[in-house]
Amino acid sequence: MRGILLAGGSGTRLRPVTRVASKQLLPVYNKPMIYYPLSVLMCAEIREILIITTPGFLEAYRSLLGDGSWLGLDLRYAEQPSPDGLADALRIGSDFVGDEQIALILGDNIFYSHQLPTMLQHERVLLDGCTLFGYPVADPERYGIAVTDADGTLVSLEEKPEKPTSNLAVTGLYFYDNDALALTRELTPSARGELEITDLNNKYLAAGRARLVNLGRGSAWFDTGTHDSLLDAATFVQLIEKRQGIRIACIEEVAYRLGFIDADQLFELGRRTGGSTEYGRYVMDVACASA
Ligand code: TTP
Repeated sequence: MRGILLAGGSGTRLRPVTRVASKQLLPVYNKPMIYYPLSVLMCAEIREILIITTPGFLEAYRSLLGDGSWLGLDLRYAEQPSPDGLADALRIGSDFVGDEQIALILGDNIFYSHQLPTMLQHERVLLDGCTLFGYPVADPERYGIAVTDADGTLVSLEEKPEKPTSNLAVTGLYFYDNDALALTRELTPSARGELEITDLNNKYLAAGRARLVNLGRGSAWFDTGTHDSLLDAATFVQLIEKRQGIRIACIEEVAYRLGFIDADQLFELGRRTGGSTEYGRYVMDVACASA
């Protein structure tokens, strides 16, 4: 399975800062936003990842993350010249994906659950068609939602319904088999001029090949597209990290715990971040505790 991390878009709702800065590089508490979705792909044991962003910001991502080898990853980069929709990522990434399965994640989505690695690795094995991940929300009318029957089987997908019949928002993480590339080629732009991911998901649903996994109440999901949701996510991360003394989406630690790098490499990464910084010290402490 190969990962695609979509970190383009216009970030209109976060203006004015997004006139000059890429949304997915803004900090969510103590680390760049992109660390969070990147760590999710890593938790699924995906090591080959394509980062798609807007032409003006590509070099900033490259200088932050490089070729990924320092994390035991193979990171590549591609440009999306204009924000032509989420499904456009599969068109841009088709050569990169080749004949593999795909995990697509949106660069402004934050997931938190202690069971994430187990759950994602399990879902990789089960994947047959398309797997969507739903999260119960109090305001489903603001989201694309998934309607399920009494057994939890996916029945329909609805975009921002006025009268929602489900409280399950469809989150920005999608697993697809390789058919997604051909199905995306059949898509045409919607009324707003975008290749819609919901249209792709509906193709799988119509073929009886879409599955929904409910992330459930033991997890947290944020999309950080507005000032309030960005602040909410940062506050959540701060609270958990301070209370438990752990770090969420510390990609160096994730790489170590998944066996992509060893304790010596981890220590060196912490040292390079800086022993006088909280982040660097945490990384070095994890390395020492495990040595
Ligand atoms: P959105 O939040 O739907 O769009 P946006 O980021 O452009 O923000 P706004 O609505 O405030 O203008 O996008 C969800 C994620 O997908 C986000 O990480 C940006 C990314 N994205 C792309 O990379 N390319 C695209 O064509 C679109 C539509 C989104």
